[in-house]
Amino acid sequence: MKNLLALNWKMNKTPSEARSWAAELTERFEEGDAELAVMAPFVTIPTLAANLPAGVGLGAQDVSAHESGAYTGETSAAMLADLGVRYVVVGHSERREYHAESDATVAAKAKLAQANGVTPIVCVGEKLDVREKGEHVAYTLEQLAGSLDGVGADVVVAYEPVWAIGTGKTATADDAEELAAAIRTALEQRYGKRAADIRVLYGGSVKPDNIASICAKPNVNGALVGGASLKAADVLGMNDAL
Ligand code: G3P
Repeated sequence: MKNLLALNWKMNKTPSEARSWAAELTERFEEGDAELAVMAPFVTIPTLAANLPAGVGLGAQDVSAHESGAYTGETSAAMLADLGVRYVVVGHSERREYHAESDATVAAKAKLAQANGVTPIVCVGEKLDVREKGEHVAYTLEQLAGSLDGVGADVVVAYEPVWAIGTGKTATADDAEELAAAIRTALEQRYGKRAADIRVLYGGSVKPDNIASICAKPNVNGALVGGASLKAADVLGMNDAL
């Protein structure tokens, strides 16, 4: 099972900027030990589909919790699949925060993604006050249970401590491993032997200079990267480090 380096651009890059990023990446990209995928804004997905180098997959940052119909502005899993999208982030803390997404909504999105052949990357993780109370493991596992309710084993889980996202405060490799190990145990209880094929990622201020130590931990199978995904040079550095 290859480590997954998932690149979450968030609300950045026009289609023209995406084309330039893909051209710069293509100049030096060589497939290594990790699988790469770009979680792109919807409007840039067709451009990336036509310009990404071989070996770099397509992803999205969200998907509707509805199959189709009168949901203005939403994007369905079938639409993503038709564009060749392989992964979709669901339950990112920024969506849980700004769009009041519940665990049940996240689970519904993940199930629809799977029904359309798109692998969901289910995001979980605690805020600083929860960690400071020492309740981060229980909180994250409760969030995971609700977000995986009825969801099949074709899933990726991303542990993203909210206090490390975009702050420059990276969880230590041991912090990441503590939660990855707890998540792995929970996945084994839920999916049995199939849990062995589920990748658990860490996200939160991952950079070229810290990704190797984090991903070297036994239960961490890659990273979900925000800021450091925006420059092709940083992505090449992370790819080389894995
Ligand atoms: O989804 C990944 C993102 O939340 C992490 O952002 O900028 O801390 O790498 P960043």
